[in-house]
Amino acid sequence: MENNTITQMPRIGDKAPDFTVTTTTGPLTLSEYNKGSWVVMFSHPADFTPVCTTEMSGFAKEKDFFAKHNAKLLGLSIDSIHSHIAWVNAVHEKTGVLFEFPIIADIDMKISKLYGMLQPGESETAAVRAVFFIDPAGKIRLIMYYPLNVGRNMAEIKRVLVALQTAFEHSVACPLDWEPGDKVIVPAPKTIEDLAERKISNLEMVDWYLAKKSI
Ligand code: BEZ
Repeated sequence: MENNTITQMPRIGDKAPDFTVTTTTGPLTLSEYNKGSWVVMFSHPADFTPVCTTEMSGFAKEKDFFAKHNAKLLGLSIDSIHSHIAWVNAVHEKTGVLFEFPIIADIDMKISKLYGMLQPGESETAAVRAVFFIDPAGKIRLIMYYPLNVGRNMAEIKRVLVALQTAFEHSVACPLDWEPGDKVIVPAPKTIEDLAERKISNLEMVDWYLAKKSI
């Protein structure tokens, strides 16, 4: 029988639901881990599977990037802590890549269900490939969901982290394909006076509502 149950999924702008869990680096409470930094939390379907190994290795290799951008990594799958430890050890021995970030052992599926990572039409037992970008105030700012059979794109994960940080820090927006160093979009004028000011500004202006600046 098809499972059409719609569960409440976390949304952009929601406070990230808090939890305390068992991870490969010990017990972890999200709200404490999140203090003063961004958290990039991602799920993978299962330990000892090929696509997941490439993805987790990708996160591990980018640890300096995430540290430089004040973002802590947090993995998750519906596996036991023993499975996680064995997998981390196996990948390290085979490839030299060490998953130093904590990985949640969500064996009872509590966090997967809380974050909409368990999507029964895709799998009843494995989390989809989700990524949650949580800001230092504990708010969810961007969510990605990928199916089991397509790996994520590390360049895009890095790009959106920097785009989010840039947009919030400068109260601007990032256009299509924005990359760090590119011009950003300034908010549209809200009054006739603002519009008059904009007309004589040195912003790059496509139209009065679409203007860009360098930061
Ligand atoms: C993988 O990571 O290769 C994988 C995991 C679960 C289902 C399909 C592929």
